[in-house]
Amino acid sequence: MKREHWNSKLGFILSVAGSAIGLANIWRFPYVVGNHGGAAFIFLYLVCLLAIGLPTFITEIAIGRKTQQNPATAFAILGQNKTWGLLGKITVLTGFIVSVFYAAVAGWILGYLWEAIKGTLVSFPNPEIAFAHYTSLTDSPTWVLGFHLLFLLFCVSVLYYGVKQGIEKANKFFMPLLFTILLILVIKGLTLPHSLDALSFLLNPNWSELTASTLLIALGQSFFTLSIGQGTLVTYGSYLSQEENLIQSSYPVIIMDTLVSIFSAIAVFTIVFSVGAKPEAGPSLIFNTLPLVFSQISGGYFLSILFFLLVFVAALTSEISALEPMIAYLTDEWKWSRKVAVISCSGLAFILGIPCSLSTNLLKEMTVFGFPNFLEFLMFLCSNILIPLGGLSAVLLAGWKWGIANLVGELHLNSFLLKNYFHFAIKYLSPLLIIIVFLSAIGFFN
Ligand code: PHE
Repeated sequence: MKREHWNSKLGFILSVAGSAIGLANIWRFPYVVGNHGGAAFIFLYLVCLLAIGLPTFITEIAIGRKTQQNPATAFAILGQNKTWGLLGKITVLTGFIVSVFYAAVAGWILGYLWEAIKGTLVSFPNPEIAFAHYTSLTDSPTWVLGFHLLFLLFCVSVLYYGVKQGIEKANKFFMPLLFTILLILVIKGLTLPHSLDALSFLLNPNWSELTASTLLIALGQSFFTLSIGQGTLVTYGSYLSQEENLIQSSYPVIIMDTLVSIFSAIAVFTIVFSVGAKPEAGPSLIFNTLPLVFSQISGGYFLSILFFLLVFVAALTSEISALEPMIAYLTDEWKWSRKVAVISCSGLAFILGIPCSLSTNLLKEMTVFGFPNFLEFLMFLCSNILIPLGGLSAVLLAGWKWGIANLVGELHLNSFLLKNYFHFAIKYLSPLLIIIVFLSAIGFFN
């Protein structure tokens, strides 16, 4: 069967942006910045993004575009042996594992969107009641599993229709919606009381917070948010025709992704500061702190709906992209029809994700290899081991096997400066830094 291609350059850009912009931007970035030195963290994050994230990101897209294949086949073709093929297969599996736990978390978001529509999120007189409500929801296996399944059904309804009619169309609709909602929230946030305090909390650099472990977090964040190392970029690149200029299609994505992270942090913290709530709540910031605030400010009802709609849209377009590498593999290599592949992958992602959803209730007491629950185990496995491994495989493949000259040709680089930057970054800098970070993530330096 002939490979489907994106309809337009804009469709590609918005689809990759849809993949990149997700829970890592809206849920994680704000609290990580809040807890790790504000602007000092943002600075470190930008350095990681430019020095390692950007070259790795472009390399993965180039591998896909060059081979017009799913990551497993793409790695096998360029690497010309089984070991590279195996590394490619691991990236496909990594994306799939991400899709497993990501869907469970996104299920809560969908559930919260429903709570917002019902008006529950504006009815909390104090933190205790907000927290009790949160636990009453996540304690219920039916609630978590129901929304988890519903979320995956939304993904199926997009993936089923293929690249152009499914993924591209959805992103062309959802991404502008996401930007609009975010802009409304930022503007509303900035007009709330104490917004300047929120900005100075965010933008004041606290350099003493910058430690080796912060560097790890910043690098991990830049990889996860750009969807590096998990087959997605190779797959989306493989739907790109040879005419498109890769560099021109890539940098808008990085800019959008970064702006969404920063704007999300501004929206979240201006809302949190407006009633003097605590900014250091960590992961539960959006589930506990925000609803408490929505209960106290004017227009809270609409804000709560807009906010959870924003997070839902971001999660949906990312989950789709995490499932796609496996779907592409099954259709390219095993010759499955797209429809069968979509339904099997999503169904399997749901079944394997059940222990994640049950980790806040029925399986609360169960630890997994020393991790508090299955969800945290999978997150650790992906963020600290599989994703760095995937990114490393891609840059090593391009830098040392396929060859920098070929990569530079694929990118149509003419500028002397850019050529040398890519040469240095992909061949030496990125691999070295990823290896260092990888070793420290698995505790080698302790
Ligand atoms: N980049 C997405 C986010 O920031 C997550 C993601 C991971 C998407 C893997 C696709 C593949 O939330």
